[in-house]
Amino acid sequence: MAEYRVVPIDAADTHDLRLRVLRDATPSSDVEWAGDELESTVHLGVCDDSNTIIAISTWLTMPSPDVTVTGAAGLQLRGMATDPSPATRGVGVGALLLRAGIETARERDADHVWANARTTVLGFYTGAGFEIVSDEFMSEATDLPHHRILLHLR
Ligand SMILES: CC(C)(COP(=O)(O)OP(=O)(O)OC[C@H]1O[C@@H](n2cnc3c(N)ncnc32)[C@H](O)[C@@H]1OP(=O)(O)O)[C@@H](O)C(=O)NCCC(=O)NCCS
Repeated sequence: MAEYRVVPIDAADTHDLRLRVLRDATPSSDVEWAGDELESTVHLGVCDDSNTIIAISTWLTMPSPDVTVTGAAGLQLRGMATDPSPATRGVGVGALLLRAGIETARERDADHVWANARTTVLGFYTGAGFEIVSDEFMSEATDLPHHRILLHLR
């Protein structure tokens, strides 16, 4: 893999890839999401050699609806996307970013990470250790099928 770095980014830095990848062929073009600007929210990206952001992810302090333990501390992953160019998709950038976000969750003493994951990419998450914990449902924003996924950190 070429030289890729995981870096903290601003919410606005996610907008281009959110629009081009996550809102492609969906009924919505909304790229400003609830919680983006909270102080506790972390946006992580991957930069290439020329400092172009080629992958994005957002991590909100939010417990999973599937973890019922009182006081459980969770991080919700939202908006994971890599640039669809063949040079950047399928070469390990998404896994690099996912590992960095999980490491951030551990540093924040979270006990779990979860997401509403597109059914089409469940293998990306299960390969990283996530469990599928819900039946399939349709996302209102994208009209695409999703499942909730969960990774316990301890
Ligand atoms: C899903 C996505 C983020 C994966 O990013 P990526 O950079 O292509 O992933 P990587 O190259 O790091 O792949 C890591 C592993 O996941 C696997 N993987 C990647 N995409 C997959 C998919 N769609 N289905 C199943 N497995 C997948 C890879 O084969 C690789 O497995 P390996 O470790 O056994 O070799 C990217 O394909 C993407 O942006 N898709 C469109 C937007 C999207 O669906 N985002 C997720 C919303 S929940």
